[in-house]
Amino acid sequence: MTFKEDRLENEKSDPHEGSSLKFINVPLVLIALFVGFGATYLALRTDNTSMTPGDSRTKPSGLAAASDTGPAGTDANNLPALMEKGKQVFTTTCQACHQATGAGIPGAFPPLAESEWVNGSPKRVIAIVLHGLQGEINVKGQKFQGVMPPFKDQLKPEDIAAVATYVRNSFGNKSDLVTVDLVNKVKDETKSRTTSWGGEAELNAQKWE
Ligand code: HEC
Repeated sequence: MTFKEDRLENEKSDPHEGSSLKFINVPLVLIALFVGFGATYLALRTDNTSMTPGDSRTKPSGLAAASDTGPAGTDANNLPALMEKGKQVFTTTCQACHQATGAGIPGAFPPLAESEWVNGSPKRVIAIVLHGLQGEINVKGQKFQGVMPPFKDQLKPEDIAAVATYVRNSFGNKSDLVTVDLVNKVKDETKSRTTSWGGEAELNAQKWE
């Protein structure tokens, strides 16, 4: 019988607990995962970003319409701005009588919707708004005999052009727009007038274009 010498180098190393993955540095792995996620997230979320220099915001259309072509009413092509201003004037000045729908009130206030007076001569509509109307008038086959006040001292020519354009292109109406130049022309041609138009009899006795 022989015995091996009991020497230290012949012994096996001590067993140890846990897996061999222990050498992986846990904080480092977490940091790598976070950075990876962040980069992927950014890449996915920014793919439609334009690299073109400059302000990429778009102009609001209302402002563009009002500022690109000067004050409303001076440009016959500026229909959206005229309509916007005309709606404001209508709401504050005409709506109480002629109603928001332009339908008027039967027996009291005549309709502007499909009215032959609104959609006829633009000069005549201007003249009615400038000087008012008081006397018998037939609108869409209905007879009215009321009082509409004059607006020549209350509304500027720009306001009258806008509101006339608005009523001629609202409530189902579709007629030419009205320019400030035409309002000034009618104002000048009728400047000696101090009373309202006496109903359709007097309106029909005028020569309108
Ligand atoms: C105080 C009420 C009143 C206000 C405010 C008023 N109107 Fe009138 N309008 C009348 C009356 C009443 C008549 C009919 C007058 C008549 O019988 O002689 C009329 C007639 C008219 C007519 C001709 C008839 C028709 O129906 O087409 C037009 C156009 C018109 N108005 C437009 C306007 C516009 C535009 C405004 C605002 C700038 C306005 N009116 C503000 C009461 C009003």
